[in-house]
Amino acid sequence: MRTLLVVLVLVGCGDDPKPQDDISSVPLTDTNPDPDIVEVQLVAEPAKHTYLENKPADVWAFRDGAREGASASIPGPLLEAKLGDRVIVHFKNALPEETTVHWHGLRVPNASDGTPAAQVAVPAGGAYDYEFIATDSGLYWYHPHMHGDVQVEAGLYAPIRIASPLDASIDVAADRVLVFDDVKLAASGQLATATDILDIMLGRQGNVLLVNGRERPSVQAAAGTRERWRIVNTANGRYFQLALADHAFRVIGGDGGLLAAPYETDRLVIAPGERYDVLVELGGSAGQTLELQTVHYDRGHNVPDPGPKTILDIELGAAGKAPAALPSTWGDVKAIAFDASTPRRRLTLREDDSEPGNPIFMINSEVYPAITPLEGRPGRTEIWEIENQSEMDHPFHLHGMSFQVLDANGQLVQPLGWKDTINVARQSTLSFVVQLGDAGRWMYHCHILEHAERGMMGELRVTP
Ligand code: C2O
Ligand code: CU
Ligand code: CU
Repeated sequence: MRTLLVVLVLVGCGDDPKPQDDISSVPLTDTNPDPDIVEVQLVAEPAKHTYLENKPADVWAFRDGAREGASASIPGPLLEAKLGDRVIVHFKNALPEETTVHWHGLRVPNASDGTPAAQVAVPAGGAYDYEFIATDSGLYWYHPHMHGDVQVEAGLYAPIRIASPLDASIDVAADRVLVFDDVKLAASGQLATATDILDIMLGRQGNVLLVNGRERPSVQAAAGTRERWRIVNTANGRYFQLALADHAFRVIGGDGGLLAAPYETDRLVIAPGERYDVLVELGGSAGQTLELQTVHYDRGHNVPDPGPKTILDIELGAAGKAPAALPSTWGDVKAIAFDASTPRRRLTLREDDSEPGNPIFMINSEVYPAITPLEGRPGRTEIWEIENQSEMDHPFHLHGMSFQVLDANGQLVQPLGWKDTINVARQSTLSFVVQLGDAGRWMYHCHILEHAERGMMGELRVTP
C-alpha cells in the first residue's frame, strides 16, 4: 500500500523532483513554463560515485545544470517529456576531452543526433544545444558518441522516458525505470583502467553488476500488485537474461514504445542498447523478497557460465490493491508495407582475429572510419539483411529511424513493434524492413562499444 500511496502523491504534484524510490534517477529540471516545451541544462563532468562501500571511484557523469546544488549521478538524470513535446537541451562539456550527446532511439533532426557524422564534437569547456520533438513514446537513453567504449563506461549514460497518453490506462502500482550496467572495478573501488583482450573481444564485462548505478539494490513493493518496469541495457558488452522465479514477464513494449499487443515470457534477453517495457504481477506475501536474476546467455566465443546472479531485490510489503484489468488497445503500430520488389541491402558483420591481441571488427569488410557510406532517399522502404559471419552475437543499431523485424519466413515478427537495436546471433542472418528517415548522415553500428570503436560502424546518407 505504501508504494501505491507514494506513486499517487507523485502523480498529484508533478513538479516534485523526488523519485518514487531511492534508486530512481531524479528528472532533469524543466526550466520552461510552456507545458509543451521541456528545456533543460545538462552538464558532463568528472565526478565521484561510490560503487563499493567507502571506496568512491573517479567517474565521468551527467549533472542537472539547472538545479542548485545537484551533483552528477550514475545513471545521469532522467530526461522526461510527453509525446509531442519540444525538447531543448543546453549541453555543457566540463570533461577534459571532447564529446557529444546522442539520444539513442529517438528520431531527432540530424544536427541533434550527437554523432561525429552529424556535428562538430563539443570541445572540452564547450557547449552545444540539442533540440527535437518527442515524436515517439517509450524508454530511450542518452550517452556520448565519441570514444563510447571509454566515455560510456566511465559513467556517462542516462534514461529518457517519453510518456504516452496510453500510460494512464495501464493500472500499475509502480512505474520503474531500471538501467542495467556493469563495471570492472579494482579492489580500490576505482574503475579498472587496464583493457585486456577479452574486454575488446566481448565488450568490457564488469565484475560488478549494476541496477541504476548500484550493486544489487532493493526496492519496496506491495505484494499482489502489478508493476511496470522499463528496462535499458547500457553495458558496453554484457548481455542480461532476466529471470524471476515463479513469475513471467508480460512484455508490452520494446525499443520504440508499446507493442501492438503484449506477449509473455519467463526469460528476457536484453542485448546492449536494447529496451524492454514489461509488466510483472508480484506474487508472494509480505516479508518475502523476490530476486531478479540474470542467467547465462550463450553469446558465442565459449564464454563460461558464471551461474545466475541476483541484480535486484524486491522486498514485498503488505498486500496492495489488486490490479485492474489490462486495456484492450496497446501500441498503434502500423506494419511497414513491402513486397518482393522492395529493394534489399545486405550487410555482413565479421571479425578478424588474425593479428594476435588486436582483433578488428568490420561491416562489409570495411573498418570505420574508412568506409563507403550507404546512400538512400527519405521515405524509401528497404529491407536490410544483416548477416553475422562471426563467432559471436552482435547487437545491430541504426540511428534516426526505427525498423520492424522479419522472421525466418520473411514475415513481420508479431506482435508488431518498433526496434532500433536488434541482436544478430552468431552465424545467422536477420532481416528488417525500414522506411528511411529524414535527410542526414545516420550512423549504424554494433552496440558492443568496443566493436563499434574498432571498426564495426557505418554511415547511411539520406539525401532528398
Ligand atoms: Cu546508443 Cu549509436 O548509439
Ligand atoms: Cu543510437
Ligand atoms: Cu559486436
